[in-house]
Amino acid sequence: MAVTGLILIGFVIGHLVGNLQVFQHPDHLNGYAQFLHQLGPLLWVARIGLLVAVVIHIWAATVLTLENNRARGTPYGFKHTIQATLASRMMRVTGYVVLGFLLYHIAHFTMGAAQSSTFKENLPAYTMQHEYRVAGFPVVAAGAKVLDVHSMVILGFQSPVVALFYIIAVGLLSFHLLHGFDSLFQTLGLRSTRWAGGLRKVALWLCLAYFAGNLAIPGAVLLGKLSPRAVGISAAPAQR
Ligand code: HEM
Repeated sequence: MAVTGLILIGFVIGHLVGNLQVFQHPDHLNGYAQFLHQLGPLLWVARIGLLVAVVIHIWAATVLTLENNRARGTPYGFKHTIQATLASRMMRVTGYVVLGFLLYHIAHFTMGAAQSSTFKENLPAYTMQHEYRVAGFPVVAAGAKVLDVHSMVILGFQSPVVALFYIIAVGLLSFHLLHGFDSLFQTLGLRSTRWAGGLRKVALWLCLAYFAGNLAIPGAVLLGKLSPRAVGISAAPAQR
């Protein structure tokens, strides 16, 4: 559980850092997405690795819950929590919401299908103004025609319902990470009584920063601080 949790934490932090390029010139987010798509089979290896991590994580959570329930046999007559934090008691609920969010999110941006079936296909191609570099190496050339992920994200969040759903979901994900981060050190045997207080503070700040970063993107779109380059196309479902 801890090892897969660590892999997933690494992914969500890396994903946020990549997504924050939406605040830069569109070349950045679009070049980055094109670079990932160009990885071809390597991208599929990463996708399958992530999927395996998610499946093992859910399987371990289920096995632990069943073992925990079996260990007691009869349920408590009177429930009173002394030490367990709210985040730890909500792990199952927040986990279900994150899973539901993830399925919606993949349909939304990877498959481009959640808001309108033609939304992603109708986006005009974006022409890179400058080359995009990774670690100093040019990976996408200036003039290349690429998918306009920058406009796709902004158009996607122009629906207040969608933007609010993302904000609530990443809020619950941050809460899930708060307990996950804390308990993963415990499971790996890296949390001593001396370090516990400091670790909890680090986890709290990390989760707050994670939430703020994720909130910034739909928040900026809702406040009109980010506009799409591709105008005249809408992410709203077509009127029948
Ligand atoms: C404001 C928040 C977020 C934004 C703007 C965002 C943006 C995106 C975009 C644009 C893509 C599609 C990239 C492409 O096909 O070119 C994507 C894919 C994805 N996102 Fe997010 N994301 C956000 C939050 C999250 C969170 C919180 C999670 C995890 C719980 C997540 C997990 C994923 C996964 C697993 C994919 C599929 C990657 C693939 O295509 O293989 N995202 N995201």
